[in-house]
Amino acid sequence: MTQLLQLEDRFQARIDAEQKIEPKDWMPDAYRKTLIRQISQHAHSEIVGMLPEGNWITRAPSLRRKVALLAKVQDEAGHGLYLYAAAETLGVSRDQMYEELHAGKAKYSSIFNYPTLSWADIGAVGWLVDGAAIMNQVPLCKCSFGPYARAMVRVCKEESFHQRQGFEIMMTLAHGTPAQHKMAQESLNRWWWPSMMMFGPNDDASPHSAQSMRWKIKRYSNDDLRQKFVDVMAEQAAVLGLTIPDPDMHWNADRGHYDFGTIDWKEFDEILRGNGPCNKERLDARNKAWNDGAWVREAATAFAAKRKSATA
Ligand code: 3HC
Repeated sequence: MTQLLQLEDRFQARIDAEQKIEPKDWMPDAYRKTLIRQISQHAHSEIVGMLPEGNWITRAPSLRRKVALLAKVQDEAGHGLYLYAAAETLGVSRDQMYEELHAGKAKYSSIFNYPTLSWADIGAVGWLVDGAAIMNQVPLCKCSFGPYARAMVRVCKEESFHQRQGFEIMMTLAHGTPAQHKMAQESLNRWWWPSMMMFGPNDDASPHSAQSMRWKIKRYSNDDLRQKFVDVMAEQAAVLGLTIPDPDMHWNADRGHYDFGTIDWKEFDEILRGNGPCNKERLDARNKAWNDGAWVREAATAFAAKRKSATA
């Protein structure tokens, strides 16, 4: 048996034995590559995800809502930094990840290419988007790659606050005046299907899932997590007194789950091609922030170099 096959067999035995793989351990190139792919995209999603919500910080309806939203957006920045740091342990540089994002070559979650049109959208994003993120991220706390799993533990604690503050906004509006209820329902109508797309394509159309599950990067399939999301959100929408915009959704006692309608994968594919409502706006904002911040990076680099030469 070739040495490579022996190494791969030993690696898989470690995965099967639930051992954590650490950056300095031997790993198949393909394992490293798919982790860099997934973790860098996850990090980009956190950073780009700040934009739709940041759009409402100055327009929050009360100081309490403003403080909660500020804290959430700041948390997302921190999540991005943990994840870029986790990706760097695999040998990719932060600058390289940034360059790929700014050049439009890197993916980030499709959900962040939709506009936040009303204050209720901030509630729907917290409730649905962070709700979906928690479904998908809690299993990642058990990911086989150590740095990713450990980053997720802290992220998930903060996501729970994000989801609760979103749900509370939706509760206030849905049980408020008729105009507020209408605003909450319109927001749910706009954010429901894009949130369903966050879990990725159906399992039979997912090129990565099977291998990612063998390597215990993924613990559940896209469709299993999506079903879990639907089952929880259907009940929460009922508590809010809001209607999920899916006429095919109904409880299936035989399955013990909610049946639901078909996702518009053409819309999903268009977003991934860069043709969503806000793709260009998001990339322009990230590039502007990068360019506007150049002087800070230059000053910090110059200061570090000066201090190094002074202490040499
Ligand atoms: N948006 C953009 N691209 C998506 C996507 C989505 N919603 N779902 C899938 N894709 C892409 C995949 O990246 C892959 O493309 P690639 O080969 O160019 O990377 C392709 O579609 C096929 O999808 P797969 O299901 O085969 O790919 P994965 O096995 O990587 O599964 C995933 C996709 C479930 C999103 C997985 O990558 C994952 O769990 N990522 C980490 C968690 C994450 O990114 N969550 C969402 C954003 S974070 C967030 O919401 C922050 C919160 O604070 C608001």
